[in-house]
Amino acid sequence: MPSEQGHFNINTRIRENAEDLSAALESHMLKVFAPDARKALRTFSAGEAAEILGISTSFLRKMHFDEKIPDVEATSGGRRLYSAENLLEIRKILEVSAKTKGSYMRGRREGDKVQVLSFLNFKGGSGKTTSSIHAAQRLALRGYRVLAVDIDPQASLTTLFGYRPEMDFLESGTIYDAIRYDDPLPFSQIIQKTFFTGIDLAPGGLLLQEFEHETPQALRNNIQPPFYARMAAALQEVEDNYDVIIFDCPPQLGYLTMSALCASTGVLITIVPNMLDVASMSQFLQMSADLLDVVSNAGADMQFDFLRFLINRYEPNDGPQQQVVAFLRQLFSDEVMIAPMLKSTAISDAGLTQQTIYEVERAQFHRNTYDRALDSLNLVSDEIEMLLQKAWGR
Ligand SMILES: Nc1ncnc2c1ncn2[C@@H]1O[C@H](COP(=O)(O)OP(=O)(O)O)[C@@H](O)[C@H]1O
Ligand SMILES: [Mg+2]
Repeated sequence: MPSEQGHFNINTRIRENAEDLSAALESHMLKVFAPDARKALRTFSAGEAAEILGISTSFLRKMHFDEKIPDVEATSGGRRLYSAENLLEIRKILEVSAKTKGSYMRGRREGDKVQVLSFLNFKGGSGKTTSSIHAAQRLALRGYRVLAVDIDPQASLTTLFGYRPEMDFLESGTIYDAIRYDDPLPFSQIIQKTFFTGIDLAPGGLLLQEFEHETPQALRNNIQPPFYARMAAALQEVEDNYDVIIFDCPPQLGYLTMSALCASTGVLITIVPNMLDVASMSQFLQMSADLLDVVSNAGADMQFDFLRFLINRYEPNDGPQQQVVAFLRQLFSDEVMIAPMLKSTAISDAGLTQQTIYEVERAQFHRNTYDRALDSLNLVSDEIEMLLQKAWGR
């Protein structure tokens, strides 16, 4: 915009910038998504399908040959294409004939409590949204019933699911409605189905800020349940429907984050391995501990199954990064996840079109670039899956 010399009026300038940006974003969104079309999930090749199902491609082919599983769509060249629904259906058939129960449907069983994971850090850009959506999608592809909860007023997660938070949930429909102090709605009423089989979404949006503003007053008026218990209380209505609930937290340690934490069974702290981020994480951990002490003394339940540091934007050939990672591993040993999320242009490029690695087509990318990013994200999710299984005593 204007580049005049001298003084200018900051509020006018910012308003102009806001309007320009908003118009540009609107046209970008129109280009990315057709005006009224919701997102749709692509199909998966036989190789991808077998990997997701955890079987070999030859076994998958044999099952088709033996007519153990329904036929799926095929290209004109005869290559099979699997939708996420196909995969779930095949997974269920595999489970029925499996020798050990839970080989293919690995979600919770009777008596297992729902696993609630918070992706956390007060550093913006550390990969909370990226890691939480990839984990949610991979777990859903692996047959888990997932609820993704966006508690960031910036609502990036909601946007990634193809919603336009500033239009779709302007007045109502965000998670705020389920935890607000006056007339909260049942959680089930704010849940949205998504284009991604196996994932439901509790949307975020700017309205969530209200919770931060209203909580001090609610505390003075002793409104029950208090902020830290409201998310857990609201979730109770729907948690039977899910194996895993994933919170994408805002980059701050406010009441929303505390409320998600107090509902959680596991925490993943995303960290970019450079010294500035590690220093800021040190403050973050200190503040978290102080705040958690306060809510714990007030009666919050603080029983967790696990806490892990998840290294993001990892560059294996970067010497200084290696040192920081070694430092973290020495300090926190098992609490640092074995698999890091690689820094990858496949991840950031997919993000530019509001997509994930699981949504984009491999052919859109340089093969090695795509495969390396996919492998790294799969390894991270597999490790998370192991933590879930362990929490369920398996
Ligand atoms: N491993 C990665 N490699 C490349 N880009 C990444 C990676 N992780 C995140 N990004 C990009 O960095 C930006 C910030 O990530 P995001 O997950 O939104 O962070 P946060 O939610 O913590 O603010 C996004 O544009 C995302 O696409
Ligand atoms: Mg985010």
